[in-house]
Amino acid sequence: MSKEFNTPDKVIYVCTGSKCKKKGGKEIGKTLRDIIKLMGLKGKVEVVKTECTDRCDFAPVMSFQPDNVWLHHTTEEMAKKTFQDHIIHSDKMP
Ligand code: FES
Repeated sequence: MSKEFNTPDKVIYVCTGSKCKKKGGKEIGKTLRDIIKLMGLKGKVEVVKTECTDRCDFAPVMSFQPDNVWLHHTTEEMAKKTFQDHIIHSDKMP
């Protein structure tokens, strides 16, 4: 029983350390995951939860790769806009 080792083209790392979680980071991550599902991008784009990234004063923190865009004091609107700009409309999308 072997499962394929599939990797996504893009990853959004969402900090879910205690401070970011408290400030809504986890919910924003869930919203992004829902968008990925709705847009049929599952497998191509992935949300990965991380431990504390040591930037707690800027919570909630997340980063969009491979464009390497980092958001701090992230709101749902900011995350959605960055998703549009750096996941959907990025040059790096195959
Ligand atoms: S909990 Fe997110 S940076 Fe520390």
